[in-house]
Amino acid sequence: MNIASRMKEIAPFHVMELMAKAAALEAAGRSIIHFEVGEPDFATAEPIVRAGQEFLRGGHVHYTAALGLPSLREAISHFYLQRYGINISPARIVVTAGASGALLLALGALISPGDQWLLPDPGYPCNRHFVRLLEGKAISLPVTAATNFQPAATAVASAWTDATKGLLVATPANPTGTLIGHDTLAELAGIVALRGGNLIVDEIYHGLTYGGEAQTALALSDEIFVINSFSKYFGMTGWRLGWLVAPEHRVRDIEKLAQNLYIAPSTLAQHAALAAFLPETIAMLEDRRREFQARRDLMLPGLERLGFRVAAQPQGAFYIYADSSSLAADSQVLAGTLLEQGGVAATPGLDFGNNWPRSHMRFAYTVDQARIVEGLARMEKLLG
Ligand SMILES: Cc1ncc(COP(=O)(O)O)c(C=O)c1O
Repeated sequence: MNIASRMKEIAPFHVMELMAKAAALEAAGRSIIHFEVGEPDFATAEPIVRAGQEFLRGGHVHYTAALGLPSLREAISHFYLQRYGINISPARIVVTAGASGALLLALGALISPGDQWLLPDPGYPCNRHFVRLLEGKAISLPVTAATNFQPAATAVASAWTDATKGLLVATPANPTGTLIGHDTLAELAGIVALRGGNLIVDEIYHGLTYGGEAQTALALSDEIFVINSFSKYFGMTGWRLGWLVAPEHRVRDIEKLAQNLYIAPSTLAQHAALAAFLPETIAMLEDRRREFQARRDLMLPGLERLGFRVAAQPQGAFYIYADSSSLAADSQVLAGTLLEQGGVAATPGLDFGNNWPRSHMRFAYTVDQARIVEGLARMEKLLG
């Protein structure tokens, strides 16, 4: 029996294995504090759930158009006007199966076999696998705390070759929680445009920024592909809904891909998401944003007191990317020790790339403040 040769290059998501181990320990009666989970712990906001229930009661759960419900595309367009003060035509908005679906559509429409794409390292692990799946070549662009764990324009310019066709960045980023300043983003967009490449900006953690709203990359150019999602700020991970804003002249190609790949995004989720932009929902989401900020402000100094070094201030998402090298030579081993002996689950750097992964760990503050305090106390007991 044959298996595709590409499968050798698709790595497992190591954190999933850690989560399975944590679950097994819990099943055996152990208490575990979960700092490994990359999704909000809150239930989906009530108005969204209610809208979903009401739609479901009608029973008319059929396919929608591949690009999504026109009313939801309009609601997203209105959200850009309200939040960022920019006009984005609903015609450019494609509703997708999560940011994952949006990334797959954008990359699927852009990558030809052999094309090289620059991906910041550390970065979101699935991106390099998407590029590989599409027969492109993911090129690791090492980023450090000196540039806020984000690519500098000069680094992109010098890494770019004739084979390079694109750059994919995220702001705020996973696993570091750091942002790309609007000026730097403009420089990056300028370089990519100058080289005739494509820029994808993943804004999935927009709304979860602490100390000011980030401006969307859509304000810079109509040629940038922007990814977003209902998963994180809107607290709808399991509903599997996101969106992509594409240059208008690329929408038809993306529509063809969506039709073939999954026909349409979830109808139920789309109807529920119409309530995501109601003022009462946004008020709840803003309360949650403040809670995430309080958690970050609790956890960050707590980790530093334990000997972790956080070299770049996380300004968004719900992650802290901490240097663990003064505590252990290998963060993978440290993660195992913390879990098995301390009852604390956190993600070793290995998932996020090849750039010093064994000296870093990612802590997610997706548990309440009491659990953060308890988790820090458990680690202190273990690490001394
Ligand atoms: C940077 C980034 N992009 C995309 C995704 C995929 O999110 P979803 O498909 O749930 O919208 C994630 C999930 O953690 C992420 O961290």
